[in-house]
Amino acid sequence: MSVLPLAARATGLVGSVIDSSTSLLASQTHDIVRFAMGSPAAEAVPSAVLAEIAATALGAAAADAYGYAATEGDPPLREALLKVLEGTSDATTADRLMITAGGMQGLDLGFKMFVDPGDLVIVESPTYTNGSSTALSYQAELLEAPLDDDGLIVEQLPDLVAQAGRTPKVIYTIPTFQNPSGTTMSLRRRQLLVELANRWGSVIIDDDPYGLLRFEGGPVPSLREVAAGDPLVFSVRTFSKIIAPGLRVGWVDADPGLQQLMINAKQAMDTCTNLPAQRLVAEFLGSGALAGHLAGLRDEYRHRKHAMQQALSDHLGDIAHWTDPQGGFFLWVTLTNGVDTQQLFETALAEGVAYIPGPAFSASGRFHDALRLCFASTTPERTDLGVRRLRRAIDRGAAGQ
Ligand SMILES: Cc1ncc(COP(=O)(O)O)c(C=O)c1O
Repeated sequence: MSVLPLAARATGLVGSVIDSSTSLLASQTHDIVRFAMGSPAAEAVPSAVLAEIAATALGAAAADAYGYAATEGDPPLREALLKVLEGTSDATTADRLMITAGGMQGLDLGFKMFVDPGDLVIVESPTYTNGSSTALSYQAELLEAPLDDDGLIVEQLPDLVAQAGRTPKVIYTIPTFQNPSGTTMSLRRRQLLVELANRWGSVIIDDDPYGLLRFEGGPVPSLREVAAGDPLVFSVRTFSKIIAPGLRVGWVDADPGLQQLMINAKQAMDTCTNLPAQRLVAEFLGSGALAGHLAGLRDEYRHRKHAMQQALSDHLGDIAHWTDPQGGFFLWVTLTNGVDTQQLFETALAEGVAYIPGPAFSASGRFHDALRLCFASTTPERTDLGVRRLRRAIDRGAAGQ
């Protein structure tokens, strides 16, 4: 038998525990309360409106919706998106805009353009695994930097960089309602981060899929707004959390000098983003439905977050503490009774509840005492049931069963 001649970079393809949970859960036959995936609630997807739009935008008279699209994005979507973003913290211009296959492709483009093998990439600890895995797929070396309730502790970066003995090529951050912790980086830290990136000549990959889902507290300007067009800020956005993840449509907002390079990179990847999906999103935005839709989502997710916090107080109050996100999808729970959340996973699944164990969010496997819960996709009743099941699993874990 011959040995497959894999490229060196193939050994860096570490995959995502989060994504793998989709197929793992699909293969289960018993009832499971699903706190694992970061998916919008099924009932939060505007499927009736999308079906109506599809009947015309993708109907018999719309054969051109099934062709290849322009690599930088279909013009109707680009125009509709620029309009929707006007007056927001993410307002931008056509020369900075690139439509992508979801946020993940934006991250892939960013790491592909900026990371050479061995380059240092600062990631938050914990961070969104798929983002750090993308950096690893380009053979980055990761430097994990801690978070607190105000997001990435930017003040600690100079010391961490001094210890590493070299400056980072990229700083990867999820500044708003961070995945997995739910925390938001303060304005002061955003400003300091941009200053440090300039001092070091580092690119900031500003991954902000949840910013429009603020349901409490006052707004904090996006990193791209704080940076005011600084070429070192590369902003990745997506419709996955605000319309539907299965559409696989997102965008990148980056320095105009990168536009052609991104087009070249995307042409070597997937030619263009799925055109029927772009047409659906363009019509949805153009119809003016987004504002009302977002208002509904914010109300619902506020309600669901409080329901989860109530359930946690009721059932885990004596053995855990958790974060208090002002938007987004996630709560980060830390157990104080020594139970290992990775080892507990199978027991929890058997009890009928799924979450993502803490070590999935750290390339070096930290956070065995923590877990991520998505509060967005379950109703308050199911959330209470799921947290009760989680308690049963933890008690079994603590008893060594
Ligand atoms: C922080 C973060 N970035 C990027 C993504 C990927 O978005 P998409 O599903 O549009 O590829 C997600 C999705 O979970 C996310 O949480």
